Amino acid sequence: MSDRPRLLPLLTTHRHGSRSPMTCLYRCGNACDHPVPNRSDNPYFGDLVDAEVSRRGVVRAGAVGALVLGFGGAVASGAAPAAAAPDAAGPPTVPAVPEISDFAAPQRGTGSGALTFKAIPPNKLDTLVVPNGYDHSVVIRWGDPVVPDGPGFDLHRQTAARQAKQFGYNNDYVGVLPLDRQGRRALLVVNHEYTNEDLMFPGFTSQDALSVEQVRVAMAAHGMSVVEIERVDGTGQWQVVRTGRRPYNRRVTAHGTRFDLTGPAAGSAFLKTAADPRGRVVIGTLNNCAGGVTPWGTVLSGEENFNQYFVGGDAVADEVKPKLARYGISTTARYPSGSRRWERADERFDLAKHPNEANRFGWIVEIDPFDPERRPRKHTALGRFKHEGANVIVARDGHVVAYLGDDERFDYLYKFVSEKKYRTGDSRAARQHNLSLLESGTLYVAKLDQTSAAEIDGSGRLPADGAFDGRGSWIKLVSGDRSYVPGMTAAEVLTFTRFAGDQVGATKMDRPEDVEPSLRTGKVYVALTNNSERGAAGRPAADEANPRNANRHGQILELVEDSGDNTAEAFAWSLPIVCGDPADPSTYFAGYDKTKVSPVSCPDNVAFDAAGNLWISTDGNALGSNDGLFATPVEGPERGHLKQFLTVPVGAETCGPFITADNRSVFVAVQHPGELTGASVENPASNWPDGDIAKPGVVVAWRLDGAPIGT
Ligand code: FEO
Ligand code: CA
Ligand code: CA
Repeated sequence: MSDRPRLLPLLTTHRHGSRSPMTCLYRCGNACDHPVPNRSDNPYFGDLVDAEVSRRGVVRAGAVGALVLGFGGAVASGAAPAAAAPDAAGPPTVPAVPEISDFAAPQRGTGSGALTFKAIPPNKLDTLVVPNGYDHSVVIRWGDPVVPDGPGFDLHRQTAARQAKQFGYNNDYVGVLPLDRQGRRALLVVNHEYTNEDLMFPGFTSQDALSVEQVRVAMAAHGMSVVEIERVDGTGQWQVVRTGRRPYNRRVTAHGTRFDLTGPAAGSAFLKTAADPRGRVVIGTLNNCAGGVTPWGTVLSGEENFNQYFVGGDAVADEVKPKLARYGISTTARYPSGSRRWERADERFDLAKHPNEANRFGWIVEIDPFDPERRPRKHTALGRFKHEGANVIVARDGHVVAYLGDDERFDYLYKFVSEKKYRTGDSRAARQHNLSLLESGTLYVAKLDQTSAAEIDGSGRLPADGAFDGRGSWIKLVSGDRSYVPGMTAAEVLTFTRFAGDQVGATKMDRPEDVEPSLRTGKVYVALTNNSERGAAGRPAADEANPRNANRHGQILELVEDSGDNTAEAFAWSLPIVCGDPADPSTYFAGYDKTKVSPVSCPDNVAFDAAGNLWISTDGNALGSNDGLFATPVEGPERGHLKQFLTVPVGAETCGPFITADNRSVFVAVQHPGELTGASVENPASNWPDGDIAKPGVVVAWRLDGAPIGT
């Protein structure tokens, strides 16, 4: 970087908590400045009869026949694909599809171990901080080569072709899939959610002023990366494999990768365009946020704020406009604020010309990282909304259940149950079968009742029964190609799923982000990140699951499916954690002594370690310090003893996280470091990770004595 003096970028106050206005612009196209898309009169808790339901008789989930990603130690098996050897001779070949047992091993029981690391304090340091006794390193960063002939990063020579071979921008979801039973090699699979052109291009002035080639660079910096990594000297540290054929390494981008549409809406009229008259093949994926690893060794990825990539919504037919507006696409302005102007590089992003193109985004994507030749898929059976991500568990009876969140203020929580059952065994036929599991099934939306409705006043005060809790039901929307929503076909329900949720009276939530089942207990944890408009005039009031008005800090929701059956159509729910400063009386940490817990704000991503502890990463810490990663037991006497494990640099949010099944490595994605208003390439707000411009990157943290993380 130049040695020009750096101006101090602004940490401006903003009505969206501590998230910088620059993040609001680039992350979700200033979504908070647009009307809340859910204007349905779908009733909320305040309108519902208080359903006082006894919690007696609710069967705790207990051990379920769940499957967990194997990773070294006792839970992984299978052989390293020969072609992955770095120095093998001969032409590149794609290794055989790995055996099921490489990914899936039963793990039962509940984890209740105390977390022994000393919590790190909140801070505003421009570095990544881990507890004493731990270390961390950067595994890969924006611009590092991904494919074997990928060029190194050169800020001043960046092209779309170079970027398409390099690690993309703003890493979000992180999955790590083992390549051998010894835990020496693995595939790192990462989402690249969005770009920030202010921080990517020298001399940036406006989106309009970008060259078309620069727009294409941004398109190539979206998508996903698959990168082979290797363990360093038997420690918990991992690094990118830099030599050899690396046959799995690949980039998926917003403009260069074709996706097959699957499921009941594939081929429907809503998905047909001039370029794809059959409605079955989409170019690109957008705004890939969180995700999950499946038991059959693929990665799921959620297409989230796809609305911001489209212009021309003002010019579509009148009957189409509500369908765009419900998804946050402006129908009054050709160029809404925050518009990325991608139509300058590819006219399919102009809805005036291609009104169905927006319907081809907002899906759950499945990629098979072990088969670079296989086209990734968009599964319409899992519905279309602003998908945060998807996490899968195999239910006791073998059906696969995916839990799904729609990240928008007052939108809904969903689950999908596969029609077919998971097939165990190591055969190719079994894996081929399992690869089809997300193509057909039943989609549900959640409706939550409450036990203490009369006491909920928006303050967050704990009800007299000692819990924010209640019963809930999964309302069937569609099963196979049969719709359960009056007046909507199955294809309509799946393509315009938000309307289906409105119609059946789903519960309006405080922005459902990551939703993840514990593979140990089958209980499901939902990060509800915040909701600036809860309780505002004309907006839904607080309810027992969303108990604070102008909710700045968010909460964690726990679902316990009836009889511990993840396919059940009813459940019990509670809020084990209501986030914020523990000194704030509206916070709650499962009844644990609040003087001993860390402040936490805006939960976003959740994950589990091998002991069953819940790990929570944050986005937009409204307490004024940097975002971070936290962990808490969710069973036993330590339930609610939440401690901060890590903080990320200035301006960044903490994504991922992923804890390997051997419990020796924690991966996090450091997304948008230095994303503060006024920052630029010339005037960075963060110098992480290399001391010059800010670059998003994936980090691994490990314990120096080699013992398991956390415990
Ligand atoms: Fe991309 Fe809901 O976070
Ligand atoms: Ca209650
Ligand atoms: Ca997220």
